[in-house]
Amino acid sequence: MTRPPPVELVDLEPGERDRAVPVIIDSFEGIYRWHAKRTLREAGEVRAAVQDGEVVAVSMLERFVPEVGYVYYLAVAASRRRQGLGQLLLDDALSRFEKAGVEVVYAAAEEDNTASLTLFRSRGFRLVERKELGYKEGGLGAWGLRSRMRVVWGEVLLGKRIAPPRTPGPSPV
Ligand SMILES: CC(C)(COP(=O)(O)OP(=O)(O)OC[C@H]1O[C@@H](n2cnc3c(N)ncnc32)[C@H](O)[C@@H]1OP(=O)(O)O)[C@@H](O)C(=O)NCCC(=O)NCCS
Repeated sequence: MTRPPPVELVDLEPGERDRAVPVIIDSFEGIYRWHAKRTLREAGEVRAAVQDGEVVAVSMLERFVPEVGYVYYLAVAASRRRQGLGQLLLDDALSRFEKAGVEVVYAAAEEDNTASLTLFRSRGFRLVERKELGYKEGGLGAWGLRSRMRVVWGEVLLGKRIAPPRTPGPSPV
């Protein structure tokens, strides 16, 4: 039996990001597709899983402030799903954010996107409530950042703390 070609994770620099467009077309429709293509051009960092020279999965990452990382989009070619590529790119994003000194990582997902929600939850993400304690105080509230995350109606915000807050939390009463 022949082994499948190995998967390599690489940075996609701005000039080569169009290589991921087929994965975007495969993964999103309508306004999401338009926005994902725009984000592909603009995101601070784009990581790709490459197999046999072909981009088969992509992640788009941003750092809004030094403590906060954001997974804008995660997409896997339809024919390559359930083979661990989404998990591989999410683990890669978390480890890069951790090395860069990020404290909290967020991602938005449509509330009925079972694949995405299950994947993020399996990596320790949880739903972020609108009114919870902010990330600077040790909670996951994304105060002041939601508009930059462009979380829209029908989506939920997920978050995971990967390092303790640098600033002290509220003192006990
Ligand atoms: C969400 C997505 C990125 C997952 O990628 P993937 O490579 O298929 O995921 P993985 O194979 O790494 O799966 C890891 C785990 O996630 C969960 N998961 C993935 N797909 C799932 C599905 N369709 N239903 C339920 N759980 C799922 C499972 O827990 C899975 O582990 P398992 O296979 O051992 O059960 C992929 O479905 C996708 O590209 N969807 C379209 C784009 C999208 O919606 N992106 C997310 C919002 S930005």
